[in-house]
Amino acid sequence: MWGGRFADGPSAIMREINASIPFDKALWRQDIAGSKAHVAMLANQGIVSETDAAVIADGLDRVAAEYEADGVPEDWDLEDIHMTTEARLAELIGPVAGRLHTARSRNDQVATDFRLWVRETIDQMDAGLAVLQRALVSRAGEHAESIMPGFTHLQTAQPVTLGHHLMAYYEMIRRDRSRLADARARLNECPLGSAALAGTGFPIDREMTSEALGFDRPTANSLDAVSDRDFAMDYLHAASLCALHLSRLAEELIIWASQPYGFVRMPDTLSTGSSIMPQKKNPDAAELVRGHAGRVVGCATALMITMKGLPLAYSKDMQDDKPPVFEAAGLMALSIAATTGMIADATFNTARMREAAELGYATATDLADWLVREADIPFREAHHITGAAVKLAEDQGCALAELPLGELKKIDTRIDERVFEALSVDASVAARSSYGGTAPEQVRSQVKRARAALGMDQ
Ligand code: ARG
Repeated sequence: MWGGRFADGPSAIMREINASIPFDKALWRQDIAGSKAHVAMLANQGIVSETDAAVIADGLDRVAAEYEADGVPEDWDLEDIHMTTEARLAELIGPVAGRLHTARSRNDQVATDFRLWVRETIDQMDAGLAVLQRALVSRAGEHAESIMPGFTHLQTAQPVTLGHHLMAYYEMIRRDRSRLADARARLNECPLGSAALAGTGFPIDREMTSEALGFDRPTANSLDAVSDRDFAMDYLHAASLCALHLSRLAEELIIWASQPYGFVRMPDTLSTGSSIMPQKKNPDAAELVRGHAGRVVGCATALMITMKGLPLAYSKDMQDDKPPVFEAAGLMALSIAATTGMIADATFNTARMREAAELGYATATDLADWLVREADIPFREAHHITGAAVKLAEDQGCALAELPLGELKKIDTRIDERVFEALSVDASVAARSSYGGTAPEQVRSQVKRARAALGMDQ
């Protein structure tokens, strides 16, 4: 039954299951950089001669140039990027290539390469999020006074400003960036020199390689260093939370772009049409951002389960650390770019938003607050009176502000004509001027702080 597959024996399966080159070739730049730092250190310590080190460094540059020009060749017999590079180096410079692997192992090598790769990804993601924050802050500044319904349970709750709503996402992304910064700080220790698991007897200088590769310090325990993938999980955790935030924003844009809402028109460049229904414009980019969150969380889960229960130090299971990280990084780059484009180029229908805020009795709380403030009624009683007013407006099919004063007085005699000042959506948002509230004045100061933090006004 397995004939076809087993024609050349179980070793074919072994080659295939063992080979990581199809995906870890993405680490080639980091692998070359790590090897160059290592060989320079070996020469500095007199472990290899200066002449041999120069030949090796030059050979590594030639391998890098070939990879750059033609891509990394995929030979399963060479297993991974480390052996592929070393084999090519030997073809180019001869047996002296064999001196490069003195005082190191693929275990500390891959741990170092992968940290460098994740570090760069963190920096790129952070830069992308800064651009997204700028887009959010710019649009929030434009819409500090644009009124829309604020929702709880997706039911109209109180009027808010669109600027306030957008700044909520600015805050989420601020926390995402801070999580990335934490992850980066913890990641930035250099495993190189931990060798296979126990360290090495050669007189290496770990400070030197650590510094050359931009790490803050060498890792302190060789067993931990070769078996630790916390840095990758830290990154995936930060990416997961960020993906969740983006999925929430995407979901709101999808709802807002639907015809019954009509709050937003998505940019044509990030939408698609239907092949059968000519009137349709689908918010596909937003839907994919929403969907990608599931895949990113799946990547985080995959690596955590791979690492669960592994004994010290390195085990081959850990070779499976890379695909989920690479996948998540690609998804995050796309999701962040798409979200930035949608926010920057969406057209908000502010008239429609205001109209929706005016329906739905969004200022009922303002009526209750007015009764507390102006008629000294306890809030619970005011809530009850307001409920009666909402019921009346519902029965009459009008807004709260459209109820005749006579009718309101029948509900409670303490209501007078000044109440109408509190019932408009503008009065409602202007009143919510507590720190962090939705009043335009508060939104403008949030925007101002954010612009300063992002260096937008320099
Ligand atoms: N390709 C391997 C990985 O990605 C490199 C480390 C191999 N180490 C070993 N002891 N076989 O994990």
